[in-house]
Amino acid sequence: MKTKKVVVGVTGGIAAYKAAELVRLLVKEGISVKVAMTQNACRFVTPLTFEALSGRRVIYEMFGPEGTVMEHIRWGQDSDLIVIAPATANFIAKMAHGIADDFLSTCVIAATAKILVCPSMNDCMFKNPVVQENLRMLRQREWTVLEPGEGGLACGTEGPGRLPEPAHILEQVRTLLAAHDLAGIKILVSAGPTLEPIDPVRYITNRSSGKMGYALARAAVRRGGEVVLVSGPTALAPPPGVVFFPVRTAEEMRRCVFENRAGCDIVIKAAAVSDYRPKECVGQKVKKGAESISLQLVKNPDILASLGETKAQAPCILVGFAAETEDLLANAQKKLRAKNLDMIVANDVSRNDAGFETDTNLVRLVFRDGRVEDAPMMTKDEVADLVLDRARELREAWLGRSGGH
Ligand code: PMT
Repeated sequence: MKTKKVVVGVTGGIAAYKAAELVRLLVKEGISVKVAMTQNACRFVTPLTFEALSGRRVIYEMFGPEGTVMEHIRWGQDSDLIVIAPATANFIAKMAHGIADDFLSTCVIAATAKILVCPSMNDCMFKNPVVQENLRMLRQREWTVLEPGEGGLACGTEGPGRLPEPAHILEQVRTLLAAHDLAGIKILVSAGPTLEPIDPVRYITNRSSGKMGYALARAAVRRGGEVVLVSGPTALAPPPGVVFFPVRTAEEMRRCVFENRAGCDIVIKAAAVSDYRPKECVGQKVKKGAESISLQLVKNPDILASLGETKAQAPCILVGFAAETEDLLANAQKKLRAKNLDMIVANDVSRNDAGFETDTNLVRLVFRDGRVEDAPMMTKDEVADLVLDRARELREAWLGRSGGH
């Protein structure tokens, strides 16, 4: 994202204040952001707010001192994307009908960049057939129009019209700016923990939050992949665009992964699968009594090892993760060989800022040919992109060797 340029166009609605958070998130992503405001937007939030957040001059007047000649043309042609957030009914109508009577509307009509429109208004305005017709016209031009959120609106009514949350708009921006280099590629990702029941109210599990696996699924969708996500229980919402299968136990995960592996080009197992489960799950809650009790555990199926063993039946690039607290590299290399993998992501889970539950991760990528690639500390989103880059390269090399089959 670091080379990408985005113009945020803020129009005059109460949700203009949320655009400030959007600009902050875009800048944090490393994107170069310029902000243009309509005169009415300046009544809700000052240009100074956006100047401070973007680190750049904000333009809000066509012929004002802050603009220079031709910037209304250049902004939409030098950038990769224009995001109109919030987009009022009036501004949507102007864009639909080609009215260019201020800096932002002129910038839009001259743009060659992609355009993302984020409507926000009163629910009756939004449902008005004129607004709906205008939005349909924008979609027909292959612009991306987000559905507004539903709920309480500033005017006191309830219904559709809320500006989508800035994090949701950011995800759309990432999708629109991403290279669609995984188009036509089917990817299965497993994520999260498994739960192995002891009785109706207790189970064995681990600390996996699902963040790493969900980041992989999200990045793969963004890059145009066809994604199946098989997940143990987590607090996360499945990323839009994935085919989602929630599971609980290792056995359920095994079955679901095997049912969906056919036709997959890449399989990535980020899930933390319980190696053992209670020998039996008793039907009634175990009562408190004896001073100590013991629980007999039996081995769970190793899903990844079974995928590796049967790879000839469903050829794919097989990627595992290795969560280790010691001898990271040696243990990861051992798992790569034992499970017949193409790549393993060695994950040091002894640190507070990597592995389970964190938003960042520190990994070493270990390849079948003995290569090791050390990654710096990254967000899980960045690790996901790196893992997908390498998996795609391995797939291309494999297709080259096998003559495209
Ligand atoms: O979910 P987060 O909170 O974001 O945390 C991310 C993570 C630490 C869970 C993730 O980055 C990670 O390291 N996942 C693998 C965890 C793990 O179970 O590692 P392992 O070394 O025990 O297993 C090796 C590989 O075999 C893994 O790909 C695992 O999915 C697979 N496996 C293990 C056991 C089993 N019975 N079946 C399997 O398929």
